[in-house]
Amino acid sequence: MTHIKLLKCSKCEEEHSPSEGLLLCPKRDYGRLDIIYDYEKIKEVLSRSILEERRGGIWKYRELLPAEESHAPKLEGGSAPLIKAQRLGESLNSTKLFVKDETRGPTGSFKDRSMVVGVAKAVELGYTCTVTASSGNAAAALAAHSAAAGLECTAFVLEFASPSKISQLINYGARVVKVKGLGREDPTVKMMLATMDKFNWYPCPSFGPFNPYQVEGPKTMAYEMVEQLGWRVPDWVLVPSGSGCLMAGLWKGFRDFKELGLTASMPRLVVVQSTGNAPIVRAYVAGRAGHDISPWERPNTVATGLSDPYPWDGDAALQAVRETDGTCVAVPDKLILKAQRLLASREGIFGEPSGVAGFAAVMSLLDSGAIEKTDRVVVPVTGSGLKDTSVIEKEARRVPTIEPIPEQFERILRRD
Ligand SMILES: Cc1ncc(COP(=O)(O)O)c(C=O)c1O
Ligand SMILES: [Zn+2]
Repeated sequence: MTHIKLLKCSKCEEEHSPSEGLLLCPKRDYGRLDIIYDYEKIKEVLSRSILEERRGGIWKYRELLPAEESHAPKLEGGSAPLIKAQRLGESLNSTKLFVKDETRGPTGSFKDRSMVVGVAKAVELGYTCTVTASSGNAAAALAAHSAAAGLECTAFVLEFASPSKISQLINYGARVVKVKGLGREDPTVKMMLATMDKFNWYPCPSFGPFNPYQVEGPKTMAYEMVEQLGWRVPDWVLVPSGSGCLMAGLWKGFRDFKELGLTASMPRLVVVQSTGNAPIVRAYVAGRAGHDISPWERPNTVATGLSDPYPWDGDAALQAVRETDGTCVAVPDKLILKAQRLLASREGIFGEPSGVAGFAAVMSLLDSGAIEKTDRVVVPVTGSGLKDTSVIEKEARRVPTIEPIPEQFERILRRD
């Protein structure tokens, strides 16, 4: 039994009972149906010591999730290690720098957390086909977890979606369709809604207004961070952001623990985007209200997972930043690639460009003095470097070729 009290639309604020099985606000105003839990009941059954006794994975936090483990696909999500980045911290002049390594899940990104919950809810509600609108990682996770649960999956992706991510989707057995046309309206979302209505498919993109359940999965990343830090709350969490859903989830996760009395404070949350696609940062700098974020005109960045011109959960991301006294930062691709190389070569963790954008922002916030040397900083590395092979392929072309002659190799050694 879940502990959902009610669902409340983030736009019209109308409240709904969980038994209605709603996925969207019935007014179709594109508000998120925020899930509100019965914290008093949860307090009776959850405590630090109870959590410490349970095994890892997202279902460890079952009282704070909107779906039942019994309906979940067999591939799991969550339980990512928190690693102290000693060597990298030394080179950046930070003494408490931690990596939350989200690259090790079944599909190689944090989106496993979202889609385990999203698919469990689809099974519970009796759907047989899932459908998504995504640039890659979320769709790959939905395809994998749908496959594991025996559901069909269709993915509408933007025309410029990364080929390596598309091939992952195809291998999971999803039907993949590229959709043309970038305007004020998101073309992939338009197709997702059309098929949802026509074929009764279950919409499960990784943003809230079209499915409120999957949003709850990434909350578990915040719970894990707190536990892994010995029940301490980080001073800063730097969040690579596309739609803003991960930020919304982390913010809610930290609030849940505070509401339950498991923690006493909140971290300062930072939205990180690439300068090649930064609609949330632009709205923040312009002092815009949450629902007034204009789509980015022409996304162009190596961070393909953050290349989301329509930040559907940008309103929640902005609120998270403002309420936690955080900030929004856009980092250039060059700095993202530098962070990717540093993290891999200093810590042995290979993240995709979108996955390491948080480190690029740490570098710039440490430089500017906004983050201090002794602040406790957690940076989620949200996707594996093996997901986005275009960057790797470019590097591979630079490798020198020699005859099997030692002198030729020694010449290279002298050059390095
Ligand atoms: C690797 C990676 N990191 C971060 C994000 C951003 O997440 P969100 O769209 O929830 O803001 C994405 C989104 O696809 C991603 O693929
Ligand atoms: Zn509404």
